[in-house]
Parts: sequence; structure tokens; C-alpha cells
Amino acid sequence: EDVEDPHPWRPEYHFSPSEGWMNDPNGLVYHEGIFHLFYQAGADRRRWDHATSTDLINWTEHGTKVPDTESMQAFSGGAVIDTENTAGFGEDALVAMYTGHHDEGFEDQRIAYSTDNGETVHNYAKNPVIESDEDNFRDPKPFWYEPDESWRMVVGRVEGTEDRPAGIEIYSSENLLDWTYESTYVDEGDNGWECPSLFEHPVEGTDETKWIIPISPIELRSVEYHIGDFDGTEFIVEEIIRADYGYDFYATQRWGNAPDDDGLNITWMGNWEYAMDAPDPGWQGAMTIPRTITLRKENGSLEVLQHPAKEITKTRQETLAKLCSERITPGRDPLEGTNVEGRTLEIDATIDPQSAEKVGLRVREGEDQQSVVTYDAGEEELRFNRSNSGEFFEDGFYDETTTSLERRDDGTIKLHVLVDRSSVEIFANDGQKTMTNLIYPDWESTEVSLFSENGSAQLEHLVAYDLCTTDNV
Ligand code: FRU
Repeated sequence: EDVEDPHPWRPEYHFSPSEGWMNDPNGLVYHEGIFHLFYQAGADRRRWDHATSTDLINWTEHGTKVPDTESMQAFSGGAVIDTENTAGFGEDALVAMYTGHHDEGFEDQRIAYSTDNGETVHNYAKNPVIESDEDNFRDPKPFWYEPDESWRMVVGRVEGTEDRPAGIEIYSSENLLDWTYESTYVDEGDNGWECPSLFEHPVEGTDETKWIIPISPIELRSVEYHIGDFDGTEFIVEEIIRADYGYDFYATQRWGNAPDDDGLNITWMGNWEYAMDAPDPGWQGAMTIPRTITLRKENGSLEVLQHPAKEITKTRQETLAKLCSERITPGRDPLEGTNVEGRTLEIDATIDPQSAEKVGLRVREGEDQQSVVTYDAGEEELRFNRSNSGEFFEDGFYDETTTSLERRDDGTIKLHVLVDRSSVEIFANDGQKTMTNLIYPDWESTEVSLFSENGSAQLEHLVAYDLCTTDNV
């Protein structure tokens, strides 16, 4: 294989910029066959760079579209397609809203627009559209609110002011330019939330829908789904669910206008605690695999399942193994002698822990190296350990994450694992729990193994694929 690869950690099938820094996804909108992905670029001063895709896997970069200015950075926000030309930029204009982060110490909400499906983007001459002299007021995400045939927008009031509590502010507008404050959604916590979206989603198997606000609480350094009801003015929460239990999952944003109503979204695989210090081989930052969601009610409570976007199946190259009814014991690994190894893998395993205390999967294994997915059957806990995934996370530095995971009715657990050159995403029990983590293993570490501790487990099924973005390999 191409050992001379210039960036051994550069994701193969996840989006990352070919050069420079990246954090939050911005302006996610689909229009005329194109998925737009703008993103926060520029490590010192932020701006919006742009990439597009027709299949959510292969991306083309188009450079900077919303630049910073001498005294202002272009912080995160969302975009819509103004089908009816409510703003007057033109029919089907792509209208992006972003935060002006001013060196003088305040943040306001601004517009940039495109009338050629994102190819050229212009700054609106009369910015800002929401004035403010306060700091910590950012990340506008507009959307069309069908019942009133008008626009709504959520913005994070990341710190409270004299007049306004910290929380998610909701605004309404007829034309995307003049905005009226409606309400603030607050919860019992500290409400220091970034990057909100708000959207309606069907509850599986019912006629019901719920409204969901994915938010990124600064303290949690992760994402939560706040699920409840929205009447056009106020959001009332019913349930709060943590979206992911890894360390590298922040600033989720949902795609507007996506072809299927499946909550398509993407998330920055990063963590502000250490992202700026992470290895920098000329580029820094990657996105998760685009994901869809299922919302369902289980025993009276709401649950969000996350799935890799179906397009991932197009990246499957070889089927490396298909196994069925195999024992996993402390001395026996059913993957031994198979072709399952590599740096870009999809592994889907159904395991019955039976008498084993622990059972799991090691990926990117090499000399003294491994990234370990463990199911602790006694504790009913899922863990990911990256203390031997390369230097960066050694010595107890953000090296292990854990979440509870119940066995399914038939006693098994399901682990759907996506491995790329510097990440491991785990979708457990059909996406009931997910864990997203970066790793920085050696290029040579490519082995994979199954293990059990203190007892034996049953591997019910396993399928493993080699993934690659290059067509016709
Ligand atoms: C979240 C965030 C946003 C802000 C952006 C700046 O990661 O802090 O609140 O708009 O990053 O890059």
C-alpha cells in the first residue's frame, strides 16, 4: 500500500480540509443536488471556507466564502434556501447567517448570500441584521417554519446579560432581514450553549412529531439533544439526551432542505480542551461521518438513534470477512487468519457476552499500539480506550470514555464501528449510544482482533469491509 502517504492521519472517507485548521460545520444546506458544507477555518482568525459534495463522502473544496475583516471574524451559523425570495436577493438564493465576532468585544448576527448556489457569496450591505453590543451571543441557525410560512432562527445567548438570560434565543422574521425576538429557552443548568439548531422530526411508528434542539454545552464539551415541543414562539423541553459519549464530538449541525427527512447532520470531531495542540501535519480538524437519526418512544421516554448516512455503503470495497456463530475465548480470536485489517474499516458485530466478564474489539493494533472497544458485561458499560493509540493521548490524558449500554432483549450487543486513519466512531445497539474519538496511531498499526476476558462469548455475526473514497478501486 501507499506507505509514502504524506498525511498518515488524514481521514480517507471523513471530510477534513487539505490545509489548515477546521472546527464547526456551518451553513449546511442542500440545493439542486449539492450538499453544502461551510466550516470554521483559520486557527487564529475564523472565517467560512466551503466544500461541496453530491454523495456526502467525496468533497470538493472551494476556498474561503465568508472572510474575516480587519476587526471582525466570521463565526458559526446556518444557511437556508430562500425559495420565495423573501429577502429580495433573488429566487432560490442561498442565505447564510453568521456571527460577527468583533475584536472590540461584541458579537452580532449577519448575512451573506449567494445567487449561484454557493459559487460566489456576497456580504449583505446592511449588516448586521441583529445588532448587539454584547459578547457571547452567537451561532444563528435560521429555518423555514411552515405553520406560519415565515422564518425562525435560534441563536445562542452563551452568557446572560442584564436583559436576557443565557439560553437559546428564538427569533422570527418574514424576510430574513428584520428579526423579532420571541423567547429564550433555558434549562436548570448553566445554559452556556453554543451552536443550536431547531427542527421538527417524526416519532417513529406514530403520527406524532417532536422538535429537537441539538446544542453544544461549553462545559460538557459534547452535544445534547433537547427534545420537546415548539409552537412557533416557545420551545418546551420534554427530554434531554446526550448525543455522544466520546471526547471528539462538538457543534453538530443539521442539513437544511436535505432530500430525506432523516435529520441528516454532521459534527466537528474535536474538543476545545486540546484541539489546538493536536498533531498538525499541515491540516487540523475533521468531521464525523454524516449521520441520520431516528426518534422513537421506548417505555414512555424518547430516544434518539444515530446512524451513519446510507451513502457510507458506497465506500465499501472488499468484504474482508463474514463470520457467523464463533466462540471468542481468552485463547481464541475468530478474526485470526481472516483478512480483517487496515486503517479504513467498517465492522459490524453482534455479540452475546455469555460468561465473559468483558468482550471487545481492538483496532489499529501494532507494536505496543491498540485502540480498544470494550463491553463490560458485568457493569453493562461500553468503553473506548485510546491510551495506546499514539503519543498524544498517553498518560491518562483524555484516554478513556465510558457509557452505560444495556444488552438487547436477546442478550446480545451490537457494535458498528467505523475506523478511519485518525478516528474511531462506535454506533452501539443500532445507534442507541455512540462514541466518537480521535486517535493518532502509527501507519503500521493495522491489525484487528476480538477478545474476551474471564469467560467466553459468542460472536453471533460479524461483517467487515474495507472502506475507501476512491471510485473503482
Ligand atoms: C463552537 C464555537 C462557536 C463559535 C465558533 C468559533 O465550537 O465556539 O460558538 O461560533 O466556535 O470558531
